Amino acid sequence: MKKTKFIGVLIFFFIYGQYDVSSKDILNTFRINSMLHGVLDNSINPNDTVSDLSLQNPDDFLNITELIKKYNYPAEEYTLLTKDGYKLKVFRIPADGPVVFLMHGLICSSDDFITPGVKAGLAFLLAQKGYDVWMGNARGNKHSRDNIYVKPSEKEFWNFSFHEMGIIDLPAMVDFVLDKTGKDKLIYVGHSQGTTIFYIMCSLLPEYNEKISVMVSLSAVAFMSHIRSPLRYIAPFNEELLAIFYSLGVYELLSETPTIQAFQNTFCNTNPRAFTFCEKIIFFLGGFNYEQTNFEHLTVVFHHFPAGSSAKQLVHFAQLILSGYFRQYDYGPKNYEKYGSIIPPSYPVGKITAPVAVFYGIGDWLSESVDVKKLTSKLPNLIELYTVENENWSHFDFVYARDIKTLILPKLLSLIEKYV
Ligand SMILES: *[C@@H]1O[C@H](CO)[C@@H](O)[C@H](O)[C@H]1NC(C)=O
Ligand SMILES: *[C@@H]1O[C@H](CO)[C@@H](O)[C@H](O)[C@H]1NC(C)=O
Ligand SMILES: *[C@@H]1O[C@H](CO)[C@@H](O)[C@H](O)[C@H]1NC(C)=O
Ligand SMILES: *[C@@H]1O[C@H](CO)[C@@H](O)[C@H](O)[C@H]1NC(C)=O
Repeated sequence: MKKTKFIGVLIFFFIYGQYDVSSKDILNTFRINSMLHGVLDNSINPNDTVSDLSLQNPDDFLNITELIKKYNYPAEEYTLLTKDGYKLKVFRIPADGPVVFLMHGLICSSDDFITPGVKAGLAFLLAQKGYDVWMGNARGNKHSRDNIYVKPSEKEFWNFSFHEMGIIDLPAMVDFVLDKTGKDKLIYVGHSQGTTIFYIMCSLLPEYNEKISVMVSLSAVAFMSHIRSPLRYIAPFNEELLAIFYSLGVYELLSETPTIQAFQNTFCNTNPRAFTFCEKIIFFLGGFNYEQTNFEHLTVVFHHFPAGSSAKQLVHFAQLILSGYFRQYDYGPKNYEKYGSIIPPSYPVGKITAPVAVFYGIGDWLSESVDVKKLTSKLPNLIELYTVENENWSHFDFVYARDIKTLILPKLLSLIEKYV
């Protein structure tokens, strides 16, 4: 095993370093600087001094409900219990309109739909249109880091991948929302892993298709062998990866630990710093799109991201990248005992009968067109495969971009309005 390369990968994940800086990145350094100056020159009161710019945004330290209330929307917090003891937090901006359930991606949380602000946060935009907006949180992230049987300090707590989110957390949240609202169907909008777990739920528990009026995938993540993201470099280590994480005592990744918070408070606390350090990390993972940077809310975004996940989740994604299949966790020699076959079973996506629309970004490094088409060709009720009208649209643009209101919202509304 090439230990040095492996350690490099670990360092990338833990120190957020500039591992393998791409040539495109270097070429763009000048553009970053000139853009930053452009932003400073144009959108800031000329009477402000540069030192005023380094003041923290007053929203930085507000939690999700405080942010919702600050902008004069009603906010509700709920906690539900899964059958295996996880306590999941669900947030809501209540209204009389149709129910929309928003589900976040890997190492993300419900906060993603709020932190880009009232002009770009998807939850705010949908609330402005009268929708009853609900936001879920999968087990293990900062809002759902609790279990009545095991503590997060115990290894057992982290023994889950997105598979368990798809077959346990998501059904529990969908049932909870339908129960609270008295409706029999909801509109589901997922980003990234929020789409993966939907496909898992509706393929393994097909009765849930009846509870979904329409599903919109903001970047579809299922088949992954063609991704451009540097995450593909971890794939060859998938067999050893979990064992090594565990031998280092690492069960959890990128949660709101004091180290991550110190990083956020040091490197993401002013707009220029947040752009230079933190935004570049997500560019690096999900694709570059400088023009869509939401400067006004960058520090707020990075005070809520990353929100944590299990190490096993990352390893399961690495398995999908390496195998090219969308299938259950690969336990190696234990597969036979667990599944009755030497290879893990694939998710039967042909059973997803709920109407599904897929949004695709040309600049999305985590969702490549070959992989997306492989999925959409198998979906029996695909209603639309929509390419976002921006040549650089990246993975994280689906939640954090400046122009969500013009590039995503109109299409999203036109699709979901047909199903309410
Ligand atoms: C800048 O300050 C001057 C003098 O204090 C004031 O007249 C002007 O309106 C200010 N400009 C802005 C854009 O606030
Ligand atoms: C947010 O802060 C308020 C106190 O201002 C608290 O009541 C609420 O539980 C907090 N919510 C979360 C999700 O941390
Ligand atoms: C983790 O879960 C799997 C399957 O759910 C089980 O086979 C395995 O024994 C568990 N491992 C630990 C360390 O609890
Ligand atoms: C896409 O990126 C390229 C290179 O960074 C830039 O020249 C172009 O203007 C961008 N396009 C849009 C629509 O922002």
